[in-house]
Amino acid sequence: MKIVLLGPPGAGKGTQAEVLTKKLLVPHISTGDMFRAAIKNGTAMGIEAKSYMDRGQLVPDEVTVGIIKDRIAQSDCSGGFLLDGFPRTIAQAEALDKLLEDKGGLDAVLNISVPLEKLVERLTGRRMCRKCGAIYHMLYNAPAKEGVCDACGGELYQRDDDKLETVTNRLDVYEAQTAPLIGFYEQQGKLFTVNGDQPINAVLADLGKALGQDWA
Ligand code: AP5
Ligand code: MG
Ligand code: ZN
Repeated sequence: MKIVLLGPPGAGKGTQAEVLTKKLLVPHISTGDMFRAAIKNGTAMGIEAKSYMDRGQLVPDEVTVGIIKDRIAQSDCSGGFLLDGFPRTIAQAEALDKLLEDKGGLDAVLNISVPLEKLVERLTGRRMCRKCGAIYHMLYNAPAKEGVCDACGGELYQRDDDKLETVTNRLDVYEAQTAPLIGFYEQQGKLFTVNGDQPINAVLADLGKALGQDWA
């Protein structure tokens, strides 16, 4: 199964990917998570990526395509993978098609659709675990104890790019550069759009349905 999760910032890609990858037994490949790991490790790539991420801009295609090329060449991807946050430009999507030319191409693109006005609240209320990366929301997916991860006891923090000003930029960048991918994959006959404006479990059930699975 080679799957892409598509959707605006805050649509729930990471939240759904945590569960989907456990059910489908494929690795979760999030370019955003890879960039945040590089920033934490202070690598040259991380320093470059941070300068874009802090402004809500996209990291240049050459950099992003390069890390995806290396990642999907690793042995754990031989049985498929779930891409979260890649591709997000037409150029990235075309590069991915090329990379997968001999591997049968993508199986499905799952587009999580959420009205733009709901996304600001989702992003500004998000909290992440510093230790394991688990995703919470102060209202919609709150941890049992404030500021502490249910899964590992780690400290919860707010992403640097979840401040209101950066959020607005990210949503504009999505509209201009990533939304065109919906038409791109529709044309390929690979697009499944799911209503992301429902409780987390209902979204998961609909994603399962799109993949022919009964998880309700
Ligand atoms: P990235 O980390 O990919 O961020 P994003 O695409 O902006 O998406 P998010 O992670 O913000 O949202 P999500 O859809 O994963 O939502 P989540 O599940 O967390 O990218 C960050 C940056 O890195 C980019 O801006 C760019 O600079 C760079 N970058 C990354 N990939 C790149 C690429 N390919 N090319 C170039 N640059 C790249 O959920 C959000 C919140 O909502 C959480 O609080 C969650 O608990 C809550 N929630 C989830 N589902 C529901 C629900 N059903 N109901 C209510 N609340 C919900
Ligand atoms: Mg995410
Ligand atoms: Zn944790």
